[in-house]
Amino acid sequence: MRDLLALMATVDGPRLNILREKYADATRTADAAAGYKYLDVALYALQKLLLAHELGLEGGLPRRVLDIGTGGGHFPFVCRFFGHRVVGIDIRSELYESIAACLGVQRTIVRVTPLTPMPDLGEKFDVITACDITFNDKDDQDGRRVYWTLAEWRFFMNDLFANHLQYPGVLYFKLNKQWQRGLFGSDRLVFNRDLLTMAARNGAAISRRRGTVKFTLTSRREVR
Ligand SMILES: C[S@@+](CC[C@H](N)C(=O)[O-])C[C@H]1O[C@@H](n2cnc3c(N)ncnc32)[C@H](O)[C@@H]1O
Repeated sequence: MRDLLALMATVDGPRLNILREKYADATRTADAAAGYKYLDVALYALQKLLLAHELGLEGGLPRRVLDIGTGGGHFPFVCRFFGHRVVGIDIRSELYESIAACLGVQRTIVRVTPLTPMPDLGEKFDVITACDITFNDKDDQDGRRVYWTLAEWRFFMNDLFANHLQYPGVLYFKLNKQWQRGLFGSDRLVFNRDLLTMAARNGAAISRRRGTVKFTLTSRREVR
């Protein structure tokens, strides 16, 4: 709580209030999956503080962190507080850019594209994170959501391991649930079990309940 209070003291409060006012109607009527919830900066800063603790980033030497799909930049905001250098990449979004501006966080515009290596970001990273991932969500096809295949996930992880992660290093994903057709035809939201199984088979610590994947590596790994 001490860290959270110290963090919140650095937020541009008047600017955030103007933003909340601007999006007040949209926030009231929006779907839970919409991004307006990230205007609750204290809640999401707390969530990311807990993640920083889980990843051992609350102390120690400064690390280089890459946050993929950084949204409003809450995780870079927290990492910077602990003295780390963070690159937060994302696609363009007026809402997320405005939130990040209130946190004093700069977003780097890079689109994650399936089966395409990420561009050279000018350095390698000790820690790579991607939380509440949606970049694996492809367009609707025939009214159903389509997500990355295992081959696309494998390509993505191998690109990160080969070109972006510094060793020893940590790769951490927190998945979003995805729609899956149930046995009796009704759709339900579940974590991608096949992805979690593939990650575990390749040495990651996973949580099926939380949808998390954590690779702690001393040298380059090839996901098979
Ligand atoms: C649910 S938000 C999560 C934000 C942040 N990671 C967090 O936990 O607070 C998903 C983020 O992924 C970003 N995103 C979606 N598709 C992307 C893509 N193809 N490349 C990069 N970022 C993407 C969205 O713009 C959004 O900021």
